[in-house]
Amino acid sequence: MLNFYIKTYGCQMNERDSDSAAAILEENGYHAVDSEEDADIVILNTCSVRDQAERKAIGKLWIIKSLKEKRPHMIFGIMGCMAQSRGEELLQTIPHLDFAIGTDQIHQLPEVIRAILEGERKIDRDERSGPDTPGIDVHRLDESGRHFSAFVSIMRGCNRYCSYCIVPYVRGPERSRDPQGIVDEVRSLAERGVCEVMLLGQNVAAYGLDGSVPPPPEDCSPFADLLARLQEIEGIRRIRFTSPHPAFFNRRLIHAIAELPKVCKNVHLPLQSGSDRILKLMNRPYTAEKYRDIVGNLKSLIPDITFSTDVIVGFPTETEEDFQMTRDLMNEVGFDNSYIFKYSPRKGTVSARMEDDVPQEEKERRNQILLKDLEDRLAVRNESLVGKTFEILLDGPSKRNPNRWSGRTDGFKLAVFEPKTALKPGDFIQVRIIRSTSMTLYGEQVIEA
Ligand code: 5AD
Ligand code: SF4
Repeated sequence: MLNFYIKTYGCQMNERDSDSAAAILEENGYHAVDSEEDADIVILNTCSVRDQAERKAIGKLWIIKSLKEKRPHMIFGIMGCMAQSRGEELLQTIPHLDFAIGTDQIHQLPEVIRAILEGERKIDRDERSGPDTPGIDVHRLDESGRHFSAFVSIMRGCNRYCSYCIVPYVRGPERSRDPQGIVDEVRSLAERGVCEVMLLGQNVAAYGLDGSVPPPPEDCSPFADLLARLQEIEGIRRIRFTSPHPAFFNRRLIHAIAELPKVCKNVHLPLQSGSDRILKLMNRPYTAEKYRDIVGNLKSLIPDITFSTDVIVGFPTETEEDFQMTRDLMNEVGFDNSYIFKYSPRKGTVSARMEDDVPQEEKERRNQILLKDLEDRLAVRNESLVGKTFEILLDGPSKRNPNRWSGRTDGFKLAVFEPKTALKPGDFIQVRIIRSTSMTLYGEQVIEA
């Protein structure tokens, strides 16, 4: 039996694709192992979104060369965004690379590996597929109950062409899956013990809108309709999603989030910038005012809602004043988490034609300021939760201290506690918060009478 190992870089979409690839390989008789040293087949699932991610994978590609020198029978391939956009070039320049499988061709893996075992070399598969590409709904779940949470891809690709972003070029045009297929997939996951799903797409708020330009009519949201259908599935207790584009938010979606009890009251809403001038240059068709309105409407319907966001600092021409607008808006919304990225030009995108004129040290300074704001805010925010009781979904024992378990609240806060009863990952329990830091809530288990 041949062993395989998949190393994943980048976003949750890639994690999902790796899981689906692993499931397909297992169905074909291959065996998953935890390290490249034990593997006959090593696959890197690559990311292209920032330059750093590409450099990491290329570094790894060369490290693996020495493995293959020791064990020449090894098969070595790449999948994901870099395989899609640079597969041919990498196959040519990296002698020990055997195959490249693009983002829509995961289901071809067994056939490609078989061909290589039969002596073929340098196989490149980068064709596009339809929305319900084969394998998109295959999950590798063990039946021991440990897998209580699953990612579900509801769409592929992106049509937004934000000026800095390479995703539409590598992941292709937006294609929404058939809702019935998604409902069937989630139902079958629930039957296998999954109670939490994370719906994935580059712009989930545009699900089912056939790539139309924003804004959609206020009462039309196929994504909200999908949430309502998933709400009905027995066994599913929490529904999360990432990421929606603010320009596609409307009344219908806001009300669905507020009114569907299983939809978690935690929204990841990428802001990117708080300056209207920069948003325009980014080709993000909304204003800071529109963003404030969405947040304000959600907060007025759901007082406990939490938000997280993505922000880019140092986009070309970003001034101190632009940056301050971002900073002010972030503090005003009071995000519970923010992913802050230093702008990095990506070849082939529109903004790569602009001069990357904010110096690296300045990007770093702006990054540090936003990180410090977040930490200060979270210290205060988390302190205010001391004394409150939350329902948490248990992940399991913490790695550093097995006496401690951790889990997530509906608002995606991490809570740590010492169990008083026999527990298993995937259980829901009540925890009262007794102290906090900016990173973590520490609690005690509340035994329900
Ligand atoms: N430079 C920096 N950050 C980027 N992102 C996307 N492209 C770039 C880029 N060229 C960030 C955006 C996006 C997140 C996934 O990555 O904030 O939301
Ligand atoms: Fe990239 Fe914009 Fe599409 Fe997100 S919405 S994947 S940032 S182009």
